Amino acid sequence: MLIQIPHVLGQQQLASVRQLLADAQFVDGKLSAGQSAQRVKNNLELAAQSQHIEQLNNIVMGNLVRHPVYQNAALPHRVAVPFYARYTEGMAYGPHIDDPVMGPAEHRYRSDIAITVFLSEPGDYDGGELAIQTSFGEQRIKLAAGDAVLYPASSRHEVTEVTRGERLVAVTWVQSLVRDPAHRELLYQLNQAREKLLKNAPQAAETKNVDTAYVNLVRMWSEL
Ligand code: NI
Repeated sequence: MLIQIPHVLGQQQLASVRQLLADAQFVDGKLSAGQSAQRVKNNLELAAQSQHIEQLNNIVMGNLVRHPVYQNAALPHRVAVPFYARYTEGMAYGPHIDDPVMGPAEHRYRSDIAITVFLSEPGDYDGGELAIQTSFGEQRIKLAAGDAVLYPASSRHEVTEVTRGERLVAVTWVQSLVRDPAHRELLYQLNQAREKLLKNAPQAAETKNVDTAYVNLVRMWSEL
């Protein structure tokens, strides 16, 4: 399931994020890549000890984790500290699959879901599409600045070469309460019906049935 999350960041927040990133130190993205990804990764990443990282994370992650679409689609258990990546002309991240388990030894998490938050306007660069292999073929994603896409971390994906301009993104990963992507998709769809029923017919018997079914399916499928 590939889900777009609109308006994670507003114009003012985007301006702050871009300003902070403009002044920050970036390093070779290969340093953070797994063994097989290293060979195809060609981008820059914000240095881990960057002084602005806390401020950036507060803006980007603060808004992401509060977003209702994120909450309902990811059913998050743990979320990673994001990476901020910059692709300038000629840079790309070839086809790869993300590491299954990430994080420092004492804070390990399973990467169920990958998220990209777009920080550059699509008109500010050519190429730089996130191309994801799905069971329905390749999906190419290039969203408005401030929007995010959420997709299964088990998918092979790549970032096509940037041929003009600069592509800035924040990327992060989630360990979901619900490990099985098919279960997550069912819950997401059922919750959409549930929310509409709760709004339009809060007292109806079918609303109570759907609400109970949703809540108890989350309980049944959650792993902590
Ligand atoms: Ni990746």
